Amino acid sequence: MRAKGERRNSEDTAFLRRARSLATPGEWLAFALGEYEAHALALGQIATSAHDEALYLILHTLALPLDSDERVLAQRLDARQRAALADVFRRRVCERTPAAYITREAWLGELRFYVDERVLIPRSYFLELIGPPLDLLMGREPHNVRRVVDVCTGSGCLAILLAQHFPCAQVDAIDLSAPALEVAAKNVSEHELEGRIALHKSDVFDAVPPAKYDLILSNPPYEPSTHCDALPVEFTREPRLALDGGSDGLTIIRKLLRQARERLTPDGLLLIEVGGLQNEIDREFAALNPRWLPTEDGSNCVCLITATALRRATPKPPPCADRIKQ
Ligand SMILES: C[S@@+](CC[C@H](N)C(=O)[O-])C[C@H]1O[C@@H](n2cnc3c(N)ncnc32)[C@H](O)[C@@H]1O
Repeated sequence: MRAKGERRNSEDTAFLRRARSLATPGEWLAFALGEYEAHALALGQIATSAHDEALYLILHTLALPLDSDERVLAQRLDARQRAALADVFRRRVCERTPAAYITREAWLGELRFYVDERVLIPRSYFLELIGPPLDLLMGREPHNVRRVVDVCTGSGCLAILLAQHFPCAQVDAIDLSAPALEVAAKNVSEHELEGRIALHKSDVFDAVPPAKYDLILSNPPYEPSTHCDALPVEFTREPRLALDGGSDGLTIIRKLLRQARERLTPDGLLLIEVGGLQNEIDREFAALNPRWLPTEDGSNCVCLITATALRRATPKPPPCADRIKQ
């Protein structure tokens, strides 16, 4: 039996041999689509189709605008460009490196974020909600929102979307992972929001100074641990801490719900993205009257819980009670 390293080298060589003859971006695109299919590459981190992801990698590698017209697909590539494309697709196909970790960037709407293996690749449903839908839910103009928090901030992408949407708000951004917070700090600085976004290393709210928020928003880890064990290779390259929500997926969500009561203003809102856990949440937290917000793909996986419902359902805890329970 051939050793793993030896097999990988010969795969890489065969890949590079096939790639050498490709003369235009269009030929690269056709070649890449065949490779995506042959190797059953996983999608869903930056694009849901192989065509869109491969085209993005080609345009990015050639430093062409992402909205280039299709005539660019016919241009002749020089040796340096062909070598750069060969290296990018070798990493994507043979090493199964996620596209965003190759380009070191991910987009949410119009905003670009730096990403690397220290953070989850941004793909949150909150992109659809942070805007007019959120203003309607909050029942106030964006400039009247004073203080908001992004719990489980990762790359800082949602904290940055919040800061841009609420121009007068102070934004806190919390993560347990120090490496993730380094990436968040880079993004906050690139978006010139150091004056309004404060980063906190904390297990949910444990180490965050007392403050009341008009809005708590969170895209926490919510995959049950057994799902994480069976993920496609590309998703295992993301930090396990960003995905694994414990045995039933609810570990961080339960803690957030315990702590949120004391952190919301009287008419504040809590929004949590929960993946496929709607039924579990409806069952366990029926008393909190969770409301499921519509999303474009019909998954409706973001729930809204009001401060009023939290106050009604949970008695005020004695000081430090949450810490005693941990
Ligand atoms: C699903 S990722 C979300 C990242 C980002 N908000 C986004 O939407 O792309 C979850 C994040 O939660 C962080 N995390 C995990 N456990 C945590 C905890 N107990 N307290 C705070 N953050 C936690 C992880 O480090 C990871 O960055």
